[in-house]
Amino acid sequence: MRLRRSRCLTCYWHQGMFVVHPYPHGTPTSLHPAAAEILSAFEDWTTPDEAAKNLDHLAPETVEEAVSALASAGALLAEDSPTAAQDQDIAHHWAAWSPEASFFHFATQNDYVDSGINTGDTDITPETAAMPPLFTDYPDAARLLLPRGRADLSTAYDKVLYDRRTHRDFTSTPVTLDILATLLSTVFGPVDFIDSGHGAVFRRTSPSGGSRQELDAYLGALNVAGLAPGWYHYNSLQHSLELLSDGLTHDEAAHLCADQEWAGNAAFLVVLAARLERMSVKYSTPRCYRVCLLNAGHLGQTFALTATALRLGPAQTGAFRDADIAERCTLDNTGHTPLYVLAAGHPHPEPHQAPQTATLSTFTETPLHA
Ligand SMILES: Cc1cc2nc3c(=O)[nH]c(=O)nc-3n(C[C@H](O)[C@H](O)[C@H](O)COP(=O)(O)O)c2cc1C
Repeated sequence: MRLRRSRCLTCYWHQGMFVVHPYPHGTPTSLHPAAAEILSAFEDWTTPDEAAKNLDHLAPETVEEAVSALASAGALLAEDSPTAAQDQDIAHHWAAWSPEASFFHFATQNDYVDSGINTGDTDITPETAAMPPLFTDYPDAARLLLPRGRADLSTAYDKVLYDRRTHRDFTSTPVTLDILATLLSTVFGPVDFIDSGHGAVFRRTSPSGGSRQELDAYLGALNVAGLAPGWYHYNSLQHSLELLSDGLTHDEAAHLCADQEWAGNAAFLVVLAARLERMSVKYSTPRCYRVCLLNAGHLGQTFALTATALRLGPAQTGAFRDADIAERCTLDNTGHTPLYVLAAGHPHPEPHQAPQTATLSTFTETPLHA
């Protein structure tokens, strides 16, 4: 029987062990690092005997044993097997995003029960782990306590929904502190507190996996009346802005957002940064990183709708300079790391960067059906 190395395979060291991790069907298996050399002999369909000949510096029994372990782990696949066909399909569909995205996606499928790598003994449980603080704060930072009178949010729901658009053209009119304060408290402020069984957690206007609220909001102020340009943390418990680093220019804001000019013309940016420990202390399965990303999407949508209700033009970007943004927000970019950048400003009445409506000729170039 001929075998081939799975195309969907990631090898790494974990807790001092060399791990061969085929996905989505395989089992992460700890092996001697020499397994990597044996795997390399199966670049294409090869019989174990042929492979042993190419690995003649190794004892044939060693190769035979390793091949058997690698086949059981799913790292070597049999020719014409359904698993090999699926492996080929995944490699094809995920080619552009492999190995990083495909590994994360498939290795975390069906992963709602903690598994670990043949050890399973390192999970942190809520009973044994100290709960991290519910709120991030910077007690030594200079701060501005924000106004608490809510700006009008009564725009009809259907109008908010259908008026929401991504804006890339803004006027130079500053956003008032009242409007900014209402937006920040509505999207990021606590609404109420519940008993999690291991202490209190809070809820926001957006859902949050396990109500862990691992996402903190950092403001890059560019054009807000009464607020010096710079980077601030929104302290949602105190409803204040804590100054972290001075100054922010339009050019820098655009640069931080992967050189997208529109971001420099917004009145402010809001960086959503995950404090991973708040999530991982309760959920040690790696799948929960997905939940952090989903939570960021929820907050982004609530931000966009609230900004629209306040007659601001919202925007968002997944393209940004992570490390530079982290530095400006004084995040360590290890356990506290940026995931999403939002922006808003007063929408320009004559936008230049709004997309054109599709016409008859657009549709002639568009396949609508298979
Ligand atoms: C997660 C996410 C990332 C985005 N990233 C960018 C971006 O980097 N640059 C940009 O100009 N627009 C970005 N957008 C905006 C989309 O292009 C926009 O939502 C899409 O064209 C649909 O238009 P609409 O938001 O007006 O409905 C992003 C949107 C989302 C949801």
